[in-house]
Amino acid sequence: MTVDLAEVLEFAIEVAKAAGTEIVKGSEARLASSAGADEKKNTADLVTETDQSTERLVRKLIAEKYPDHKFIGEESYAAGDIEPVTGAPTWIIDPIDGTTNFVKGFQFVCISIGFTVDAEPAVGVIYAPFMGYLYTARKGNGSYLTTPLHPEPRKLPLAPPTTLPSLRGALLALEWGSDRSKDVVEKKSRSFARLMGDPESVEGGLMALGARSLGSSALNFSHVAMGCLDAYWEIGCWAWDVCAGIVIAREAGCIVVGSSAEARSALMLPNFEEHVPSTVLTGRKYLVVRKIGDSAEESGRDAQIRTIRQMYDAIEEWDV
Ligand code: IPD
Ligand code: CA
Repeated sequence: MTVDLAEVLEFAIEVAKAAGTEIVKGSEARLASSAGADEKKNTADLVTETDQSTERLVRKLIAEKYPDHKFIGEESYAAGDIEPVTGAPTWIIDPIDGTTNFVKGFQFVCISIGFTVDAEPAVGVIYAPFMGYLYTARKGNGSYLTTPLHPEPRKLPLAPPTTLPSLRGALLALEWGSDRSKDVVEKKSRSFARLMGDPESVEGGLMALGARSLGSSALNFSHVAMGCLDAYWEIGCWAWDVCAGIVIAREAGCIVVGSSAEARSALMLPNFEEHVPSTVLTGRKYLVVRKIGDSAEESGRDAQIRTIRQMYDAIEEWDV
């Protein structure tokens, strides 16, 4: 099946706008009725009627336009419709990424629409309707952002990439996620402490400049692509949280890797990106580092690789 990726991207933007309208309408109805949210796995993993209605809308629009394409969506998966990622053209979507934000009325909420060919993310659209931020990317064609203030698409990253000589200058995205079991929370806490701690008193401390939790994996990826976050690390996300973000980040010159073991073995190779396995999409472990500028001491690419190594030296992982 041949796929016209430019056409897929144009259509994905239309779908994202329609989904955005549904999300805003859902939010207004919630505010008027003070509706609650249902729990999925636990009290930190929520779903609302709007997650479900938005996924139904998106699924219907895609099926009408591309009846032969496969569909993987967070809420369809939760309802037992479990499709593996194969080589077939596949839409991988999260109707609301940032459901906790949606419930709280915190504006970092988006629809995330990814599209894969041969199991590789090839098109990504992320639309944050409360802010009016639209991120788009197509493999080999760069990634772009439009906002209400800048309605003409701007190429990402937004500014020429600066150098990053050490983690001390880095603003990181780190998330607590929804798995709060003892082992996970302790490993995460120790990892956060090393990333953020002062080496004078914290063993292995890297003392990063700061950390943010946007509450949406897709928007964390997008902000690293913009260049305003330096790196994002999380374990536990699903393909629908990251598929669109992977394309947007890679097309903005970011490096996206999976687990530390995968990343370390790939990093040994000179053209390592060709050796980052395509299982990154479904591997549930993600580290993305922004495009970095060249300095007199090292190329931007070497600085990205060094940053990955330094972060993975500080981080403890667990099985999902
Ligand atoms: C969640 C968000 C959050 C991340 C979680 C995701 P949801 O997705 O992306 O930032 O920490 O791992 O599950 O539940 O809002 O779609
Ligand atoms: Ca979701």
